[in-house]
Amino acid sequence: MMASPIAFYFSISFLSYVSLFFLLCSSKNGYALGGGERKTLQRYFHTVQVNSLLPVSVCSPSTKDKRNGASLKVVHKYGPCFHLNEHNTESAPTVTEILRRDQSRVNSIQSRLRRNSLKESKATTIPANSGNSIGTGNYIVRIGLGTPKKDLTLIFDTGSDFTWTQCQPCFGSCYQQQDPIYDPSLSSTYTNITCSSQQCSQLSSATSFDPRCFTNTCFYGIEYGDSSVSQGFFGSETITLTPSDVFPNFLFGCGQNNTGLFGGAAGLIGLGRDPLSLVSQTSSKYGNYFSYCLPSTTSSSGYLTFGNGGGSSNGSSLQFTPLLSNSQASSYFFDIIGIKVSGQTLSISKSVFETAGSIIDSGTVITRLPPAAYDALKTAFRDQMKQYPMAQALGLFDTCYDLSKYNSVEIPQISFLFGGNIEVPLIANGIIYAVSASQVCLAFAGNSAASDVGIFGNVQQQTLDVVYDVAGGKLGFGSGGCS
Ligand SMILES: *[C@@H]1O[C@H](CO)[C@@H](O)[C@H](O)[C@H]1NC(C)=O
Ligand SMILES: *[C@@H]1O[C@H](CO)[C@@H](O)[C@H](O)[C@H]1NC(C)=O
Ligand SMILES: *[C@@H]1O[C@H](CO)[C@@H](O)[C@H](O)[C@H]1NC(C)=O
Repeated sequence: MMASPIAFYFSISFLSYVSLFFLLCSSKNGYALGGGERKTLQRYFHTVQVNSLLPVSVCSPSTKDKRNGASLKVVHKYGPCFHLNEHNTESAPTVTEILRRDQSRVNSIQSRLRRNSLKESKATTIPANSGNSIGTGNYIVRIGLGTPKKDLTLIFDTGSDFTWTQCQPCFGSCYQQQDPIYDPSLSSTYTNITCSSQQCSQLSSATSFDPRCFTNTCFYGIEYGDSSVSQGFFGSETITLTPSDVFPNFLFGCGQNNTGLFGGAAGLIGLGRDPLSLVSQTSSKYGNYFSYCLPSTTSSSGYLTFGNGGGSSNGSSLQFTPLLSNSQASSYFFDIIGIKVSGQTLSISKSVFETAGSIIDSGTVITRLPPAAYDALKTAFRDQMKQYPMAQALGLFDTCYDLSKYNSVEIPQISFLFGGNIEVPLIANGIIYAVSASQVCLAFAGNSAASDVGIFGNVQQQTLDVVYDVAGGKLGFGSGGCS
């Protein structure tokens, strides 16, 4: 029997999305009539070769210099740079499924932040604690755990705080992962955290669940927005980021009952602001400073670097915006203040972005904007794209085009304006999301309510150097950090 045409369609589609557009970005001089006189207008485009929407199955890691500090290679968890072994039955999800999970994550982030703002305003009732944490991101790094060290591939996530990996013996279930499952009994440096210890009590804020106690050993549980779950013993262990960056007594979850869609990764690294996050636990060495670049295709690589090491990402083109501290939330709040399409700043009143504020998140896929901001963006984008036939909407995406009849298309350039009035241009892959050549969509979505927090997601962050100078209270952006 033939494979279902729908399944086939979606597997091709996913590969199309991940393949690299061949890009030429240009600013052209055009002419327009205005006030009876001829004016020169700058029009800004990305020229995208549509026929380069080819599946990519070869890993071509970035050859760019790594940054100062402890640098790890970042790849996409469903890409060819992270080979799944034959025992791994989890295949890459369809675009529809990616968007559905992304919405679950966003719902969970937004409900957590609403709950935190209730706490801040000293509201009397706080809803019961469920779905409080958030789902998994897409990008993975390899770090070493234990003595002797075992290398593990973990998803990193700025939207959560707790680090865990699957551990032997699995007593509920463990999902399939690429690396052998970590066995703490083979490490000379693993210790259990006791129930009475101060560390055990830190779990409540890092996991959003109160710890439990088994034979005086502290037992954690964490549940993500997409219903993924990890439970197990809370332990302390040596982690090795690079040969010269080794941290004894790192607190993490030794997960013995784990379910979810982790794409063959062995667990997760939490890079939020909570005291148990990896950023906080390594702050004596790195000063709460880390940076990353997320590659634009599943076949290329970026970096995750801890510490500033005396010179940030080449120092060349970084621009900084303030990181806002929100005492209750471990999220990274900052200000989006405007959006430019084809060089024109959209008319969006300041209060639209100020109402709920914005966070940056490495795990949310598609940027979420306040409804009024999204409407303005969509209108301007459609106006610039009106020469192309529209296509069916897909999930979150309501502005899609059929570009299958074109060799190349011109996509309006989009840049974001952040607090401090810095302008961050997006690459074409950060503007459009190709489901297939006949369904290429504007890669943004509007929140359903003006009171929902805005989220600057990972599609838009691709190839940017993103610097989290948490101690310095600022977030940096630079272009061309990876490919
Ligand atoms: C494993 O976790 C699942 C989901 O939370 C739970 O239903 C199950 O009871 C757990 N298994 C054990 C042995 O604790
Ligand atoms: C950690 O605690 C669990 C449960 O009490 C126990 O089975 C395991 O052997 C302990 N591990 C170590 C290294 O003490
Ligand atoms: C920064 O990068 C550019 C381009 O790769 C290079 O020419 C320049 O020398 C670098 N600057 C520093 C300070 O390393």
